[in-house]
Amino acid sequence: MAKITYIEFNGTEHVIDVANGLTVMEGARDNAIPGIDADCGGACACSTCHAYIHPDWVDRLPAIEEMEADMLDFAYQTDPKRSRLTCQIKVTDALDGLIVQMPEKQI
Ligand code: FES
Repeated sequence: MAKITYIEFNGTEHVIDVANGLTVMEGARDNAIPGIDADCGGACACSTCHAYIHPDWVDRLPAIEEMEADMLDFAYQTDPKRSRLTCQIKVTDALDGLIVQMPEKQI
């Protein structure tokens, strides 16, 4: 279980306990948090689960894989240092305290 803070583009924060094994995207989707659309359902095929990772967490996440990097090219206003697709980040205890910020829009 990890407590994850999702911050909408307008600054609204949602602090959610997300079970291990889910993805960061599923934690948002299952709690109806606005700003993560996840149109493809987590198949790394849409880029609408894009979020910016808090700088303190960027290096603490599993490395980005090629498929995610390729799909991120289609996301809206990516930040090369902080952008990730949240469907590709599996939740573990190690992510307790993670903070992600949603972009202004998805695609
Ligand atoms: S939900 Fe489609 S790429 Fe993440």
